[in-house]
Amino acid sequence: MSLSIVDQNKLDAFWAYCVKNQYFNIGYPESADFDYTMIERFMRFSINNCGDWGEYCNYLLNSFDFEKEVMEYFSTIFKIPFEESWGYVTNGGTESNMFGCYLGRELFPNGTLYYSKDTHYSVAKIVKLLRIKSKLVESQPNGEMDYDDLIKKITLSGESNPIIFANIGTTVRGAIDNITEIQNRIAAIGIPRDNYYLHADAALSGMILPFVEDPQPFTFADGIDSIGVSGHKMIGSPIPCGIVVAKKNNVDRISVEIDYIAAHDKTISGSRNGHTPLMMWAAVRSHSEAEWRRRIGHSLIMAKYAVDRFNAAGIDALCHKNSITVVFPKPSEWVWKKHCLAISGDVAHLITTAHHLDSSQIDELIDDVIADKNQRAA
Ligand SMILES: Cc1ncc(COP(=O)(O)O)c(C=O)c1O
Repeated sequence: MSLSIVDQNKLDAFWAYCVKNQYFNIGYPESADFDYTMIERFMRFSINNCGDWGEYCNYLLNSFDFEKEVMEYFSTIFKIPFEESWGYVTNGGTESNMFGCYLGRELFPNGTLYYSKDTHYSVAKIVKLLRIKSKLVESQPNGEMDYDDLIKKITLSGESNPIIFANIGTTVRGAIDNITEIQNRIAAIGIPRDNYYLHADAALSGMILPFVEDPQPFTFADGIDSIGVSGHKMIGSPIPCGIVVAKKNNVDRISVEIDYIAAHDKTISGSRNGHTPLMMWAAVRSHSEAEWRRRIGHSLIMAKYAVDRFNAAGIDALCHKNSITVVFPKPSEWVWKKHCLAISGDVAHLITTAHHLDSSQIDELIDDVIADKNQRAA
C-alpha cells in the first residue's frame, strides 16, 4: 500500500500536529503519559474479541487470555471474587454504563432508572436506547445526588424495583454520590436489598479510589451491583475504551448462544476491539500498586496546588476529597478556548491528570484566569 505525495504530506502534518498537542489536555480527564510501544506490533493483526473471553471462540485471533487477566485485576480492585464476577473491556465508559443499566433493566423490567442532574449526558441517551423508564433526581449544589429528592421520587411513584445510577465522580464537579446513604435510605422506606439495582459510574474515579488511603464507598464490598470505568481516562490509552464489572449470576441471565461464533454472547457490540484489552493488560501489568498510588497521589497534590493558587487569588475553587477535578467560575471565552477547557453553566474545571508532571500548564491557565478576573474588574 502506498500513498500519493499529497496524502503522505497530509499524514506527516497530522503527525506533527499530534506531537505538538500531545499534552494539550487540562480540561478533560484523559491522561496522555501512556507508553504502549511493547504492543504496537500487534496493530498488523485483525484481532477481534467477539463473544465471551471465558469461552472457546472460533475466531482464533482474539486476545481473550489478556482480557481475562484484565478482568481478574479489576475484580480485585473493585472487591468482588473473580469467580463471582463477569465483565469485559468495552468501547468506553458509556458502553460500560449502558451494560450496567441493561442488566438492571433485565433484572427489573418494570423498574425505573433514577439518575441525578449531574450525571453524564450519555445516560439520557442510554435511557432512550434501552427504552427504560427513568426519573431525573435533583443534585445538591456540590454535585452530589439529592438523597431527599431520590427517596421522595421513589416513594411518590410507588416504585418497588428502583434502578439507581450512582455517580462515583461526576463529570463536571467530580462529586461522589454516597452509596451507603442511598442504601440506608432505600432500606428505610422498606425496599429489601434484593429488590433494587445499584450501578456505579466510576468513569474517572474508578482508577483513583482503589489507590487512596481513605476512599469513599464505591465497590462491590460496599454494595454495588455493577461498575463502569473508562480506560482512556486515569489509565490512559490511544484508543477510547472502558471496563465494566458486574455480578456473574446477573450476567448469566442475559447470555445467549450464538452458533455463528460457536460461543455465548453477553456483550453489547458483536465484534469487539481486541487491541484495547491488550492495552489495558499492558497498563495493569506494567504498574505496581505502589506506582499507581504514586501516580494518583501526584495528581491529587496537583489538584490541591491548583485550588490553593485559585483561593490565594480570591477565586472560589472547589475540589472534592479524592478528586482531581478542580472547579472554578467560568472565565471569559478567550481563556476557556485558549486552554480547551470544558465548561458547564457558570463553571469550568481543570483536571490534573497524570501527564501534569509539574505545575507549569496549571500555572499558565491560572495566570490567565487571574488576568481575566482583573480585566473584568477594571
Ligand atoms: C462521569 C462520567 N461518566 C461517563 C462518561 C462517559 O465515558 P466515555 O467518554 O468513556 O464513554 C464520562 C466521560 O467523561 C464521565 O465523566
